[in-house]
Amino acid sequence: MSNHDEFNHLIGEVKMTSLKGKDILHGSQFSKRDVEGMVRIASDFEKELKKKDSLTLLKGKILATLFFEPSTRTRLSFETAMQRLGGGVISMASAEGSSAAKGETVGDTARTVSQYADVIVIRHPRIGSAEEAADAASIPVVNAGDGAGQHPTQALLDIYTIRKELGSLKNLVVSMVGDLKNGRTVHALVELLSLYQARLYFVSPGNLRMPEEITSRLKQKGIRIEETEDLERAASESALIYVTRIQKERFTDLTEYERVKGSYVINGEFLKKLKKKITILHPLPRVDEISSDVDTYPGAAYFRQVRNGVFVRMALLAMIFGKR
Ligand code: NCD
Repeated sequence: MSNHDEFNHLIGEVKMTSLKGKDILHGSQFSKRDVEGMVRIASDFEKELKKKDSLTLLKGKILATLFFEPSTRTRLSFETAMQRLGGGVISMASAEGSSAAKGETVGDTARTVSQYADVIVIRHPRIGSAEEAADAASIPVVNAGDGAGQHPTQALLDIYTIRKELGSLKNLVVSMVGDLKNGRTVHALVELLSLYQARLYFVSPGNLRMPEEITSRLKQKGIRIEETEDLERAASESALIYVTRIQKERFTDLTEYERVKGSYVINGEFLKKLKKKITILHPLPRVDEISSDVDTYPGAAYFRQVRNGVFVRMALLAMIFGKR
């Protein structure tokens, strides 16, 4: 295939999908077809970027990142993705530096930014804030984390990583570990895993269990779930463990945080007990839940997962803009 043919093939894929002009707010909004289209486009971009540093697909388009909560990977990978696609970026990296500090609502900020940019990526500490921004904005809005709610683009990059690391999304058995109550990445990821009928272990301290609203909906869909505090047993049954940070910033009582922090730690000793290779993902940042001696373990995929974030966000942006 010539470069030109390859490019047309890419555009064809983009046209086929249903995300054009859409807000990206919740993991449950994706169909299997969306996910599979995204995986193919992301993997095309991954190959393209081996040949050149940047493309021109979104030349002239502007992405605005509005981050009212700390972020390293999500904001920088979205900005990288847009620039690799030839687009431009404007960025508000903290609430303190913006009119939010003067009391402006999320809606008014989104309405304002709609006058400058072509797509908004927003992170905010309040559940439902991305939806509020989307209602007010006249351009597509992407939820990059709304409090303890959802983080749908992380789920997409997690799925892409799982496919790459395990070779398939069929017959998955996954253990999700840590703060399942407040972890927005797991809230979004279970929605995508449910499209593939994955079998799930939810491993957490008793007070950080997956919200009942989510588990009951998964059960209704026929997804096999087991809630447990026994990480070793769950991990020995799983091909993949998805580790999360205890979300300190969501605790109103810090003594409660002190009590549960360090509940689960993946280290070399733990991996030896498993007696088989396992794939380990983590959305990062980690605090103490994966020790650094695990980083050289062949199944430790969390930094490869970081890199995949760029290809997946490129794919998502291309899909939102459709053929232009
Ligand atoms: C996560 C987040 O912000 O929800 N990080 C990320 O986006 N990669 C996870 C976390 O903060 O623990």
